[in-house]
Amino acid sequence: MRSVLVTGGNRGIGLAIARSLAARGDRVAVTHRSGEPPEGLLGVRCDVTDEKSVEEAFARVEEVQGPVDIAVANAGITNDGLALAMSDEDFGRVINTNLMGAFRVARRAAARMATARWGRLLFVASTVGMAGSPGQANYAASKSALIGLARSMAWELGRRNVTVNVLAPGLIETDMITHVSDKRRAELIRETALRRVGTAEEVARVADFLTSDASSFMTGAVIPVGGGHGMGH
Ligand SMILES: NC(=O)c1ccc[n+]([C@@H]2O[C@H](COP(=O)([O-])OP(=O)(O)OC[C@H]3O[C@@H](n4cnc5c(N)ncnc54)[C@H](OP(=O)(O)O)[C@@H]3O)[C@@H](O)[C@H]2O)c1
Repeated sequence: MRSVLVTGGNRGIGLAIARSLAARGDRVAVTHRSGEPPEGLLGVRCDVTDEKSVEEAFARVEEVQGPVDIAVANAGITNDGLALAMSDEDFGRVINTNLMGAFRVARRAAARMATARWGRLLFVASTVGMAGSPGQANYAASKSALIGLARSMAWELGRRNVTVNVLAPGLIETDMITHVSDKRRAELIRETALRRVGTAEEVARVADFLTSDASSFMTGAVIPVGGGHGMGH
């Protein structure tokens, strides 16, 4: 029975991953910033933009369910706009959450995994990080940077039997895409070989594999779960 922490696991893709790992018997904690955590999972308050908050969340998880064996850095935001008109602040906010937030979590988790000589770090990126997307320069940059981060950590931690992989979802039905216009949604579906939006559960099934013993010889991999969106990159 592994100890798991999923950031942004209170809803959307993170929640589906948390539920899937809990169903296979892991002890699963999810971060939430406000409100109540989902039933049946350990909720820990955490804002990934704040190092102290990340530290406190890990301390709480360790206290209740033991050191984290599997960390899923899933928390993410969008803040769309054309690059030419994007302020440093709008660009930086997305980088600070999606990239630096994931880094803060991975760094904190990796120390213990290295000592334990077993660990699974999983970063939730996006097919947009590979394909690019108009209006999402900040988001795409944050997601493609996760690949370099993951592969560097894969080199650093490989000897310690810690795997570090990237899961790159395509268009998935969650709160995140509610603000996508019908026109853009139709465009994205046309760019998806399977011609539909995916579900959080379809992403969770792959996360399940990438955080299990079944993927023991995979590290530094980028696995798209996007119905073919962005394939070939
Ligand atoms: N949906 C898609 O089409 C799609 C496609 C590709 C990749 N992704 C990626 O998948 C991941 C999950 O997205 P989703 O679709 O499930 O979106 P979502 O429903 O909007 O959920 C985002 C999650 O991230 C959390 N979060 C945001 N900022 C945070 C912060 N500073 N500290 C801690 N938690 C924070 C949110 O917590 P609160 O509830 O507190 O806001 C929420 O749990 C993201 O990294 C996203 O970029 C999504």
